[in-house]
Amino acid sequence: TKLDLELDTIEKGGYDHFMLKEIFEQPKTILDCLRGRLNAEKGTIQVSGIENYLEEISRANRIIIIACGTSWHAGLVAEYIIEETCRIPVEVEYASEFRYRNPIVHNGDMIIAISQSGETADTIVAIEKAKEQGAIIMGIVNVVGSSISRISQTGAYTHSGPEIGVASTKAFTGQLAALMLVAFKIARHRQTITEERFKELCSELALVPGKVEKILEQNESIKKIAESLKDSSDALFLGRGYNFPIALEGALKLKEISYIHAEGYPAAEMKHGPIALVDENLPVIFVATKDVYHEKIVSNMQEIKARKGQVIAVINEGDLVTPAIADSVITIPEADEIIAPILNVIPLQLLSYHIGIARGCNVDMPRNLAKSVTVE
Ligand code: G6P
Repeated sequence: TKLDLELDTIEKGGYDHFMLKEIFEQPKTILDCLRGRLNAEKGTIQVSGIENYLEEISRANRIIIIACGTSWHAGLVAEYIIEETCRIPVEVEYASEFRYRNPIVHNGDMIIAISQSGETADTIVAIEKAKEQGAIIMGIVNVVGSSISRISQTGAYTHSGPEIGVASTKAFTGQLAALMLVAFKIARHRQTITEERFKELCSELALVPGKVEKILEQNESIKKIAESLKDSSDALFLGRGYNFPIALEGALKLKEISYIHAEGYPAAEMKHGPIALVDENLPVIFVATKDVYHEKIVSNMQEIKARKGQVIAVINEGDLVTPAIADSVITIPEADEIIAPILNVIPLQLLSYHIGIARGCNVDMPRNLAKSVTVE
C-alpha cells in the first residue's frame, strides 16, 4: 500500500536501501561508540563495562575470541591489535567449531564474544561452555539486553543502533571501535604501551569519524569502479597484517551482496594457490594503505599485473607509486596502521553495494541469508 511505501522511505532516511543508509551512518555510529569513553585531549579511555574487571583482564594469560561471520573478522583484527598493544596471546575461533571440539579453557582465561545481535546460537553455547570452565566472558555486543550481553560478566556495547541490512556494515566498524577502546585501555593498564603511544592512539581514534566522512565522499568514484567489475564471476581480495582480515571481510561482503564468488587471502599467500587463477578476467582488490608491509604489497601487485590481472587498490593520499601500477585506485586518508582497518573496510562496503545494485541484487536481503542465525 501507499502507506507502507511511505513508511519504508522514511525508515530508509532518503537512501535507496538500508545497506547504503547504514554505510553512510558510520561517522555517527562510530562517534556514538567513542562518545563518553574516549577523551583524546586528556588522553583517557573509560569503558564502564570493563572498569571493574580491569585487573582480571590484565592478568589473563590468554584471550580467546569467539564469533561468527563478519563478527569473526572483527575478532581477527582484534587479535592483531591486542597482541601488538597488550602482549597477551590471542586465539580467534569460529563459535561453531569451538563449541564442539572439547576446547581447553583454563580458569581465568578471558573470552571475548563478538556479536551484533547477541543471539547467534553457536556463540551463545560456546561462551556458556567456556564460562562453566571458569573463563571470564567479555561481550562486544550491539543489541542491548541480548542473550550474549546477559551471559557476559563484562563488556562494551558497540552503540551502532539497529542494523537492518542483513550483511553487516556499521555493526562491524562499531565492533572495531569498541575493541580498539578495550585493547588500548588494557594495554595502558598493563603498561605494555607507553603513555605517549597511548595518547597518540587516542588522538588517532578520535579522528576516525571525520576520516570516514571523507571516504564516503568517494562514493561516486567507487560506483564507477563497481561498474567495471559487475560482470566478473570471481574476485580476489588481498591484504597483509591488520588488513588481512579486511580482505576477508571485503570478499565476504562481495559474495553476500552480489553473489560473485570472492576469496580473501593474506597477500603473501597468493603464491600458494590463488595466483593460479589470475588472468585478464580476475579482478584483484588490494588493501594497500601505508604500513610496514607497503613495499611488499606493492610487489605483490606487480606480480598480479605481470599476469594481466586487473588491480584495484585502496591506498592513501600521497601514495605516488601504486597509481602507476593499479588499474584503479580508491584514495583514502592516512591513519596509524593499528587504526587503519576501520577506515579501509568502508570503500569495500561501498564497492560491494554498488556491484550488487548493478547486478540487480536485493542488497538488503540477500538470498538464503539470515540477519541473525539463532538455530544451528
Ligand atoms: C549472520 C549475519 C552476519 C553476521 C553473523 C554473525 O551470518 O548475516 O552479518 O556477521 O550472522 O552474527 P552476530 O549477530 O553474532 O554478529
